[in-house]
Amino acid sequence: MSTVPLGSPLGPPWSPGVARDERGVLTVGGVAVDTLAKEHSTPLYVVDGDELRARCRAYTAAFGPDHVIYASKAWPTTAILQVVAQEGLLVDVASGGELHTALLAGVDPSRIVLHGNNKSDVELDRALEVGVGRIVVDAMEELTRLDALARARDVRAPVLLRITPGIEAHTHEYVRTGQDDSKFGFTLSLGLADAALERTLACDGLQLIGIHAHIGSQVFGVDAFVANAEIAIDLLAHWRDTYGVQLDEVDLGGGMGVAYAADDDPVEVAELAAAMRAAILARTQAHGLPVPKVLVEPGRAIVAPTTLTLYRVGVVKDLPGLSRWVAVDGGMSDNMRPALYGAVHPVVLAGRDSAAPDGPVQLVGKHCESGDVLGTDLPLPRDVAAGDLIATAVTGAYTEAMASNYNRLPRPAAVLIEGGVARTIVRRETLDDLVRRDVPLATPLDGS
Ligand SMILES: Cc1ncc(COP(=O)(O)O)c(C=O)c1O
Repeated sequence: MSTVPLGSPLGPPWSPGVARDERGVLTVGGVAVDTLAKEHSTPLYVVDGDELRARCRAYTAAFGPDHVIYASKAWPTTAILQVVAQEGLLVDVASGGELHTALLAGVDPSRIVLHGNNKSDVELDRALEVGVGRIVVDAMEELTRLDALARARDVRAPVLLRITPGIEAHTHEYVRTGQDDSKFGFTLSLGLADAALERTLACDGLQLIGIHAHIGSQVFGVDAFVANAEIAIDLLAHWRDTYGVQLDEVDLGGGMGVAYAADDDPVEVAELAAAMRAAILARTQAHGLPVPKVLVEPGRAIVAPTTLTLYRVGVVKDLPGLSRWVAVDGGMSDNMRPALYGAVHPVVLAGRDSAAPDGPVQLVGKHCESGDVLGTDLPLPRDVAAGDLIATAVTGAYTEAMASNYNRLPRPAAVLIEGGVARTIVRRETLDDLVRRDVPLATPLDGS
């Protein structure tokens, strides 16, 4: 049974802007979801813009303005990039497409960081052409190619070398082992970071400005981040002592965990920043190094908790002694995460409140795939029925970004709620959009 008083926020992990109105209808930033469903249809991503800005501000307050890079892979939509850039974040892009979007959003190229373990010459050259501020290099071949491209343009490419720090971070713990065996970066333990430094120093087209080290995603606690910072500082000291090179920038990546369940307890960003700062201070002092500029690259932690996805229930099927199946009008095409990683997103009845007791349901989509699951044994009121609106929480990261047209479903729209107003930031695809890239055979099927 619903225990949330009307008008109160739902509590974590729901965005603070999510509440219920006097009718029991879910609201986001004061806008009722039944109105949103009527105007924009479902499925619909609904972004709490105030929370998005608040999360950006918490990060810049903790790490410093110009020290936070939004990892746009989490959700690279133009309007989201505009909001985070307005809030003073830099933007990381991991492909030519993400770079194109960031430029279209008006992000200053000098505040863009280009990533990718296998960047093409076209992507690298475009980054040089527009004057991207940092290129994070992952591989020896890339150093060679980037050097040639930069010399051809008579510029020096601003390079961070991505090292593989040898930390395997899990959600609640970390170990220093297997992650060495990665497609990303120069593996420290194999001496590849030193080799990359030597190659970089020998290239006239490259200007080395720092190092980059990222440990994983959805990482809880501070320990793995602290260990990563210490490893990076140790490397700066090693390079100073061995090569006489002093670098003054360290990008420690993203991966900060967020709550997907009420009892998940991610570390506060201020606490994380303080722990990292203390470790960096201690380590630089021990090595007699100046404190470098430290950047971080959160994606999920900026955008995931800001968003819910609104669905309409189409079918409720009770199998006595087995399960209650609740099928909605989207599924794995708008949120791959449950099918891909077994991720769990909380669900509530959104279009009304209910006094009925909760019971477990298998929340599924409309795709021709048994794996098209949005949640297993999730609690919903027993009177949930066809026509009901439901909402799933914490869907801002790696959902729309990974959306597909499987079964030729048009991808959903997204709205941003700010100041009590909903603005469309992604328009719903049309049926014509679905066939726009198809190239029909010139010969009619009957051969005539
Ligand atoms: C290099 C790099 N930076 C930042 C991120 C963002 O991670 P998250 O969204 O978990 O913060 C990723 C994610 O894979 C990444 O690979």
